[in-house]
Amino acid sequence: MPVRDLAESQEFFASRAFGWEDRFPDDDPLFASAVDELRVAAGHVVLDAGCGTGRVLPQMRRLVGPSGKVVGFDATPEMIAEARRLGRDNDASLFVGDVANMGFPAATFDAILAAGLLPHLPDPSMALLELARISKPGARLGLFHPISRQALCGRHGDDPDTSVIAPPIIEALLTSLPWELESLHDGDQYLVIARRL
Ligand SMILES: C[S@@+](CC[C@H](N)C(=O)[O-])C[C@H]1O[C@@H](n2cnc3c(N)ncnc32)[C@H](O)[C@@H]1O
Repeated sequence: MPVRDLAESQEFFASRAFGWEDRFPDDDPLFASAVDELRVAAGHVVLDAGCGTGRVLPQMRRLVGPSGKVVGFDATPEMIAEARRLGRDNDASLFVGDVANMGFPAATFDAILAAGLLPHLPDPSMALLELARISKPGARLGLFHPISRQALCGRHGDDPDTSVIAPPIIEALLTSLPWELESLHDGDQYLVIARRL
């Protein structure tokens, strides 16, 4: 069963934080491709929402350069501690909190990645609304999973047709909020790119 309650989610990920990236050693190029789709440029302010150990933060830092800003944000303190242990605080500012209420000023970010996040949220629409609030007009949001929707839902014991990431469901959700669907790839990996209206 997927983890849905925030406290349950924190408990679930706390015990998996140490060595998290070692569990998925071949995923780095897949994450890198997803970040490329966000078209991050020098000077941008970018966010990894639900960053876990922050595996994409070094790439984001290279793309934004010294004049840009990179933020990693996650609800599980142990994930952020593991990110620090891996030196990710050299590339990004790291915060612990709930994506449904992040506290950043409105229109802060040029690009946001949320990898492996949405199916864990009790109310994905609240999070997508908060992500819209803190995004600049035209900002890109990437919703990414390094495996297929079917494989992910199989792992969680979810029905792939009723999951929040099922194409008709995520499209309806995004377009009910100030997001425009730019692309949706629902294959061996899953990547939605949305643009802030
Ligand atoms: C499957 S992991 C993905 C981590 C990382 N993005 C990656 O792909 O390696 C999901 C992450 O979402 C975080 N998370 C779950 N609910 C959250 C919430 N409400 N706010 C912020 N982070 C949350 C968890 O702590 C966990 O680190």
